[in-house]
Amino acid sequence: MALAFNWQIGRSMSYWYPEGRPKRQFAAVFDINKCIACQTCTLACKTTWTSGKGQEYMLFNNVESKPYGSYPLAWDLNLLTKLGAQEWRGKEYAGRTIFEAAAAGERVLGWRPDDLDYAYPNVGEDDCTGRVDRGAAMHLPHLHWFFYLARICNHCTYPACLASCPRGSIYKRPEDGIVLVDQGRCRGYRECVRACPYKKVFFNPLTGTSEKCIACYPKIEQGVQPQCFVNCIGKIRLAGWISAPEKARPENPIDFLVHVKKLALPLFPQLGLEPNVYYIPPIHAPAAFLEQMFGPGAAQAIETYREAARDPDVCGLLGLFGSTERVVPRWKRDGEWVEGRDDDDRQIVRVPMREPVYIQEAFDAKYQVARTNCP
Ligand code: SF4
Ligand code: SF4
Ligand code: F3S
Repeated sequence: MALAFNWQIGRSMSYWYPEGRPKRQFAAVFDINKCIACQTCTLACKTTWTSGKGQEYMLFNNVESKPYGSYPLAWDLNLLTKLGAQEWRGKEYAGRTIFEAAAAGERVLGWRPDDLDYAYPNVGEDDCTGRVDRGAAMHLPHLHWFFYLARICNHCTYPACLASCPRGSIYKRPEDGIVLVDQGRCRGYRECVRACPYKKVFFNPLTGTSEKCIACYPKIEQGVQPQCFVNCIGKIRLAGWISAPEKARPENPIDFLVHVKKLALPLFPQLGLEPNVYYIPPIHAPAAFLEQMFGPGAAQAIETYREAARDPDVCGLLGLFGSTERVVPRWKRDGEWVEGRDDDDRQIVRVPMREPVYIQEAFDAKYQVARTNCP
């Protein structure tokens, strides 16, 4: 084991390989507050990458209802229970990561789902159990909150899948940090399936190899956002690049949201992988739940989000989500407009911060015609 610095837990930790950051790291921000669980992202990915034989159960992208949903079943509960207490001292994680909690002779603390755990994505997760009598809607037998969590591979800085493979079949691309399975090397040991805490590696029983989200790298190489991003109906997603905190640039939209405003947070940072999909937490869920899921910055992030309407930069940047299919490495606000710009600082997209409103009179006196059917 080597020592590697993980900024998300505020300390160095044990990892199978020494710290080595890619030239650029693929990253994303998902605004949970805007997700409507339409599953368009799920289908966009499914039809693009996992419509083949042996891939039927695979969901490189899935959307689950929290706290009741999970795919595969109990992916988070199982591991959190195994890991035990996860204590933070301020911004520093005082507990053990899944690398540090691994049993002797193992590289990662993990577990492997059974086939049945993959059998029923989403089924029943939005239903309430027990009897709800007429007029008793406000007396459900559980707390009255939930939110939708969209999940893809996090293209982690310290991937557990990569660390666990005895054949070294998983690699992280130095040019963009995307994590891939080398199909030619993989022999189906499934240690990666066991190790990934987010359960984003899937074994294909027909090919005998494992497969995972590829961050749509053929699109990324063309400067275009992945399928699940450009098809997102709720416009909750923004793809880009994240810098290490000491190299953060405010003109980089991901750096601005993650490092400058600390509005977007990693999923279960305490596991130790430095995942690179960042979430703007839901503002209506209990603080303790959010802190366990997104770390000690959750309360502050929610405060910042609530203030967004009075912060033109945050408000404007959130308007760039879903505004273009291009990856936006730079941005700037120009009065009431926000621009996405490319690496050479050329304009890609320009959006107004406020939607223009046009009011059509019900009756057009000039042409003496009714413009709507209810004048
Ligand atoms: Fe590997 Fe899982 Fe991290 Fe993706 S989320 S890079 S599959 S450990
Ligand atoms: Fe699927 Fe591409 Fe989204 Fe990964 S990035 S979940 S491969 S659509
Ligand atoms: Fe390695 Fe996973 Fe294949 S452990 S051999 S990449 S199934």
